[in-house]
Amino acid sequence: MIPHSIIEDLKHRCDIVDVISSYVPLKRAGSNLHGLCPFHSERSPSFTVFTNGEPHFYCFGCGAGGDVISFVMRIENLDYRSALEFLAKRAGITLPDDERDEKREVGRKRILEMNLCAARFFRDCLFDDKIGAPARAYLEKRKLSTTVARRFGLGYAPQSFNSLRDHLRRNGYTDEEMITGYFCARSEKGNVYDIFRGRLMFPLIDVTGNIIAFGGRVLDDSKPKYLNSSDTPAFKKSRNLFALNFAKAHAEKRLILCEGYMDVITLHAAGFENAVATLGTAITPEHARIIRKYTENVVLAYDSDGAGQTATNKALRILSEAGVDARVIKMDGAKDPDEYIKTFGAKKFASLLDEGRTRFDFKLDNILAEHDISVPEQKIKAAALITAEISNVYSGVEREIYTAKAASVLGLDVKSLQSDVESAIRRRARNEKKERPGELYRVGMGISDRVNPDFAKHTKAARLEETLLGLLMLRKEYLKRDVRGTALTAADFPTELGRRLYEAILAGEEAGGFDLGLLSESFTQQEVSRAVSMLHRRQQLTDNGPRIFEEIVLALRNENEKNRKKTDGDDFLYHIQKKRDELKNDASRSDT
Ligand code: CTP
Ligand code: MN
Repeated sequence: MIPHSIIEDLKHRCDIVDVISSYVPLKRAGSNLHGLCPFHSERSPSFTVFTNGEPHFYCFGCGAGGDVISFVMRIENLDYRSALEFLAKRAGITLPDDERDEKREVGRKRILEMNLCAARFFRDCLFDDKIGAPARAYLEKRKLSTTVARRFGLGYAPQSFNSLRDHLRRNGYTDEEMITGYFCARSEKGNVYDIFRGRLMFPLIDVTGNIIAFGGRVLDDSKPKYLNSSDTPAFKKSRNLFALNFAKAHAEKRLILCEGYMDVITLHAAGFENAVATLGTAITPEHARIIRKYTENVVLAYDSDGAGQTATNKALRILSEAGVDARVIKMDGAKDPDEYIKTFGAKKFASLLDEGRTRFDFKLDNILAEHDISVPEQKIKAAALITAEISNVYSGVEREIYTAKAASVLGLDVKSLQSDVESAIRRRARNEKKERPGELYRVGMGISDRVNPDFAKHTKAARLEETLLGLLMLRKEYLKRDVRGTALTAADFPTELGRRLYEAILAGEEAGGFDLGLLSESFTQQEVSRAVSMLHRRQQLTDNGPRIFEEIVLALRNENEKNRKKTDGDDFLYHIQKKRDELKNDASRSDT
């Protein structure tokens, strides 16, 4: 088996949109892209590339689907290994063998050592009477104590093009190493010079205590405000959180996720040692999976401005997809947690934490803020947006609660809102059917299914199985989750394909992380397409929380139990067969 890390790296370098665009002209529509399907002939585009969540393609016409690896396998007609090599070549790398892995490990260790050396240098500069004076004045202005600065290992990169370079040279590091480690760059004339100059330095420390990178802030209003190390052999920003090394010990109840380093430091200094931030990037699914290892509850404290609110929306989706319950706080009168605490104090902030709004309430607030509901047209618009939101929720109980709430804030009748929600759900179901013609439609009817021949035996259980598998690919942590005291086993899966998929997800996860790309090694492309359609259908829904998981598992177990009792299913094919048999019997009787 190819290690997960290699597949991940390859996918990181070979963006699915870039790769597919070099074969198929794609047009963007929202976060998705459309084009004419290269795998069957069509005149209107039903081939779609989804970039949210797990990136994948799916054709609503012929049902072909997969990730970037399976796209290359299909379009270039390659086997698995050759497709990986094809992509590696495209990215300008060679697939590493063991020897190479070792070399990389050495590179990583060396960079970590260099980072520590640099961090000490920056710290010494900060506390140097003369050199550090401007930076210490800035800390004072921001009300950041020396104790806190020391705890976070803050430093100062002097206003100079060579002081760190010379220091690292004296400590035996080569110019090449400094460039790889993102401390230095080479000018056109060939001179090696410091990248961080005149900046307050924030070391980024991983959970094992290694200094993996730096962020540097200017001391005035010049641009760019922050400069961060880019990815190095020792650092991937999509996989690390600022201050998680401290926060992990206080994470069990919840983590506070902010946007800025300064926010985190102020929060820790005020006693909120469970605050973390991403490293100058938006939150990724990898971040969410890491967070989920430490806690199920996150409070989002992003900036109050428009950009912060958009980022909040994205974070809510990504966190919920990873099984994290995220709430949003409203910091009236301050632009970020740093300012909030300095203006209103820690006590007031503590009470905000317990008033976090759910994803629905957050969306409701935003819709209400954008519409003046005393004006009838705007009220109608707001109601339509809210019903659309509610209709995305899988659980009937939750829909009922949200509908009642929305009715009360809008001053509308619950019944009329409810019927709007129901028609939105029906409309979507109709569209889904329209989008799944041909083979898929027949599959949906349980009549003929070459990819999963067991489907027709117990269509209801098989449909639940597909839902469950889609959910498991999205939320791997459910693999181990008990439902009524027992976690899933292969026996819960009624079809042969379902069992094989379940086992592949499990094996992938145990070998370092499941990835769609792993399926192409041992499943046919048609089977991969089917798996992707399961994932895809689940990903379209907003609610993939643990309760939904439990509901589905219970329904599936219940269905399996019924089927075992009956021995013969009561499904569609069974009835056709029975009817045939009866007719045959009648016919043979009348023959005699
Ligand atoms: N950021 C970045 N590059 C920039 C601006 C911001 O990487 N040019 C990242 C940094 O990680 C920063 C975060 O985005 O911490 C939030 O930005 P912002 O709110 O502007 O910074 P603060 O941390 O709040 O810093 P300050 O309070 O000092 O303005
Ligand atoms: Mn700030």
